[in-house]
Amino acid sequence: MGGCFSKPKPVELKIEVVLPEKERGKEELSASGKGSPRAYQGNGTARHFHTEERLPAPHPYPGAQDCVEAAICHVKDLENGQMREVELGWGKVLLVKDNGEFHALGHKCPHYGAPLVKGVLSRGRVRCPWHGACFNIGTGDLEDFPGLDSLHKFQVKIEKEKVYVRASKQALQLQRRTKVMAKCISPSAGHSSSTNVLIVGAGAAGLVCAETLRQEGFSDRIVLCTLDRHLPYDRPKLSKSLDAQPEQLALRPKEFFRAYGIEVLTEAQVVTVDVRNKKVVFKDGFKLEYSKLLLAPGSSPKMLSCKGKEVENVFTIRTPEDANRVVRLARGRNAVVVGAGFLGMEVAAYLTEKAHSVSVVELEETPFRRFLGERVGRALMKMFENNRVKFYMQTEVSELRAQEGKLKEVVLKSSKVVRADVCVVGIGAVPATGFLRQSSINLDSRGFIPVNKMMQTNVPGVFAAGDAVTFPLAWRNNRKVNIPHWQMAHAQGRVAAQNMLAQEAEISTVPYLWTAMFGRSLRYAGYGEGFDDVIIQGDLEELKFVAFYTKGDEVIAVASMNYDPIVSKVAEVLASGRAIRKREVELFVLHSKTGDMSWLTGKGS
Ligand SMILES: Cc1cc2nc3c(=O)[nH]c(=O)nc-3n(C[C@H](O)[C@H](O)[C@H](O)COP(=O)(O)OP(=O)(O)OC[C@H]3O[C@@H](n4cnc5c(N)ncnc54)[C@H](O)[C@@H]3O)c2cc1C
Ligand code: FES
Repeated sequence: MGGCFSKPKPVELKIEVVLPEKERGKEELSASGKGSPRAYQGNGTARHFHTEERLPAPHPYPGAQDCVEAAICHVKDLENGQMREVELGWGKVLLVKDNGEFHALGHKCPHYGAPLVKGVLSRGRVRCPWHGACFNIGTGDLEDFPGLDSLHKFQVKIEKEKVYVRASKQALQLQRRTKVMAKCISPSAGHSSSTNVLIVGAGAAGLVCAETLRQEGFSDRIVLCTLDRHLPYDRPKLSKSLDAQPEQLALRPKEFFRAYGIEVLTEAQVVTVDVRNKKVVFKDGFKLEYSKLLLAPGSSPKMLSCKGKEVENVFTIRTPEDANRVVRLARGRNAVVVGAGFLGMEVAAYLTEKAHSVSVVELEETPFRRFLGERVGRALMKMFENNRVKFYMQTEVSELRAQEGKLKEVVLKSSKVVRADVCVVGIGAVPATGFLRQSSINLDSRGFIPVNKMMQTNVPGVFAAGDAVTFPLAWRNNRKVNIPHWQMAHAQGRVAAQNMLAQEAEISTVPYLWTAMFGRSLRYAGYGEGFDDVIIQGDLEELKFVAFYTKGDEVIAVASMNYDPIVSKVAEVLASGRAIRKREVELFVLHSKTGDMSWLTGKGS
């Protein structure tokens, strides 16, 4: 990309274009990205949809009065590889020029609304600058996660060297497109003890698996089950926005599940899996047979094992109820967070505005040390200290003391006693796979479910995805790893669904993670475990930096703050299969005072 994104000069604007009937038909096909998706039966064979089986997709041109067409620039206004945000009628579009062709798409990422013009254009897709979601510029389809929806694709035509874009009001205002999906036509739906696909876990992996099956035309019964009392929700927001109510966190409204025939069993704990008879047993004795099974139970937070661990007002954060309770109790009082990892630090940051005091207790010398290294950890620690957070480092909790059953003090091994009315424990998690111990599904020594690149377990027809698995990481020589990230759980859920339909998909995404504290976001891509050096460009004091984590000669991960879109650029390069050498980074740091990143992609930033 070149460095100039100057505001385009509108050439002319024409609203209320009447489209001929045949033109509208064409546009509907391209807007959905496919003509007629295949529909899979339970036995894995494909058949075609009947028209009435498809949910009516919103028509991109519902009426002439709701359409806008405008010439938005001259063909020479954009260089190849350049993107621009352009006003059009009721909204904006993202205009992209790639290989001499123009594309017009939704301009905001459907995940959290990042401006995609600030993202990375590469290999026919645009990658979001905030958390790395990727969209195909030809179709607008979501190709890599996080998030569930795709972008609208608008019609472009070139006339007399001018670029015209045509779009509907609805699409311009919505800025997101849910892919065309099948709905359930199974007669047994909702009232039978057998299902075709059973998904244990309604988190990111489980939901994406169910949606992918429907997107691919699967029209048999799908049942998702969860320990929660809620429909799938945005778990990462729990520790960043502890006040958020379950309905604000929902990933999809209940009408969505009804419309596409995805059944969700809430407060439904699976206690046994009988793979011989293809059956699961729930805690209340209910049994459900399946034909294909996805295990996506995520993880359970570790608790303290010290004296007094049973006192009241000590929490881990897994559900909206946990998070809401913590803020309620912390308001105007003393909060202690145990563990200075991502979850603990996000909670500590959030509570500074609510609590009288916030203290963090951590075994290591600096927060995030193992993940981000000493220098970055120290810079972030300073940001917390500047916001009134007190740290107790290189120590651990020896006792939780109560008054009338409620937490009053946290006693540390260093003998220090910290006043506390509420305590949040963020010391890691273990895979929630206890219910599989008696099954013949393999677990490793730490309780993870090992899967191959297709997310298959050792038992045919049983797949696993998300925080509970170890899998071969393609771009790190297929090293078996566990990557508990929101984006990774989405990607694995999709691959599992594709392989349930015998599509032979493999997991190949580059891990992407983010955290947010005091209004600042830290982004991270790659897999940095075992890094032996960290090269930093920028200003740690100002919290405007990029850190490259290297092992030997190779960059294995990158983290940044206020340095977008470098993490997305690195993720894109790694995803393309190109290794980034330590030497390249050293030269960048030596010579680049401007923050120019063209060395990464061979194009201007
Ligand atoms: C507070 C918090 C903040 C986070 N922030 C971030 C972040 O900023 N960025 C990021 O990348 N990642 C973040 N993560 C991690 C991210 O949420 C996980 O990687 C992701 O949720 C994993 O998805 P999953 O589908 O594997 O499991 P989960 O989302 O954990 O879902 C597991 C599901 O399985 C169900 N379940 C478990 N056992 C059973 C059983 N026996 N029977 C029935 N159902 C069962 C659960 O009820 C749940 O529905 C955060 C995690 C937490 C807890
Ligand atoms: S806002 Fe785009 S991936 Fe999150």
